[in-house]
Amino acid sequence: MEQNEQATRLWGGRFSSGPSPEMTALSLSVHFDWRLAKYDLQGSRAHARVLANAGLLDDDELDKMLAALDELEKDVESGSFQGTEADEDVHTALERGLIERLGTLGGKLRAGRSRNDQVATDLRLYLRDNVRTIVAALIELQKSLLAKAEEYRDVVAPGMTHLQHAQPILFSHQLLAHVHAFARDVDRLRDWDRRAAVSPLGAGALAGSSLALDPVAVAQDLGFDRPADNSIDAVSDRDYVAEFLFAAALIGVHLSRIGEEVVLWTTTEFGWVTLHDSWATGSSIMPQKKNPDIGELARGKSGRFIGNLMSLLTTLKALPLAYDRDLQEDKECTFDSVEQLQMLLPAVSGMIATMKVNADNVSRGAGAGHALATDIAEWLVRQGVPFREAHEVSGAAVRECDERGCELYDLSAADLAAVDARLTPDVLDVLTVDGALASRSTHGGTAPSAVLTQIENIKSALAEQSAWLAPSG
Ligand code: ARG
Repeated sequence: MEQNEQATRLWGGRFSSGPSPEMTALSLSVHFDWRLAKYDLQGSRAHARVLANAGLLDDDELDKMLAALDELEKDVESGSFQGTEADEDVHTALERGLIERLGTLGGKLRAGRSRNDQVATDLRLYLRDNVRTIVAALIELQKSLLAKAEEYRDVVAPGMTHLQHAQPILFSHQLLAHVHAFARDVDRLRDWDRRAAVSPLGAGALAGSSLALDPVAVAQDLGFDRPADNSIDAVSDRDYVAEFLFAAALIGVHLSRIGEEVVLWTTTEFGWVTLHDSWATGSSIMPQKKNPDIGELARGKSGRFIGNLMSLLTTLKALPLAYDRDLQEDKECTFDSVEQLQMLLPAVSGMIATMKVNADNVSRGAGAGHALATDIAEWLVRQGVPFREAHEVSGAAVRECDERGCELYDLSAADLAAVDARLTPDVLDVLTVDGALASRSTHGGTAPSAVLTQIENIKSALAEQSAWLAPSG
């Protein structure tokens, strides 16, 4: 960033010398808070209108001010106007830009406003805007998972607990389980948005203003639901950042879980999934390799999402009210979580959308590992046997199989009767993977009929999520 001789320091009056290079270097934030420029300008336009309503700018001054702010925004967008090291932060840089375009009139805009309420406003606007792109990416990811689930809807798989065969499931049921996690993430961000929709502008440094500002009008102008009710809270609250970083960390954790499953599914041992070439990488030495890097990066990046949350919470802990410069440390972790999610979500979504499921490999062994043992126990329960005994009987059948080196479905009616007389030949009806699946038809179960209902419900939930994003919403 070039040095600027015309720097507009916002606080020179009582100082006899400029800051030392070390002070400047430590203080500098313009290299990262420049991301807030567009939101700062949005806030400036709203503030200018309020100053005019308060009689502090006449109509002509307001017109000139708004025109200069528009011009400055264009120059920021094109990159012809940039913050410099001498500007310290985005707010200073944009005031310099305004004064360069408007002369002394530009100096009127700061009345009643402090960087403390400005930066809190900018960061809320930035997050509310970016949360919408994250929600859009979460919707796309859910759609990718849903499409895969529909494509392979009836493929049976061994369902696992402790990564051991537990009970047969539909593979689609497992894919849809991830959809619910991402749906909760969307719900969490929507709920977050409701609490984040509070405008700090008008709080000034910490105590409000003696000028006839109108925080209600500013809040409305900026798309917030309401102004903050306490000016001290307005400038010191960073709950909205902490809550966002938690939501981001949990999204990161959810991505790490599907990432890990994809890594597992693509191993030679599993062979359940083949990734599309465009969504995998090779090895510089081993020509045969096709690595699931997206899954691994999804797993790995969860560390930095959690770290960003820890970083902010630690900064906030025991911080006295109102504004302290510590709060400048709220931004880099926030920008990082936002930008990493914006990069990671479409990658995971694309990996899922393009992966091929090797149905034969998935289904092979769905009933193996004695995965039908619960079905025997529950069949006995339906015959009136207490579950405690049924569990023992089914366990005895498993032991018998282990001794013979076979699976439960290999036992004949006579073998079963020899284990326990209550195992009559009818039990053979539930000793098939299809029978076991079809029987789990209660709400949320893995039976094909229940999965079909689940898919319909997910489709309406997705439509509702998209409606929230629509401009009218
Ligand atoms: N760059 C500062 C921040 O990010 C802006 C507010 C500075 N306020 C102050 N009084 N020094 O928090």
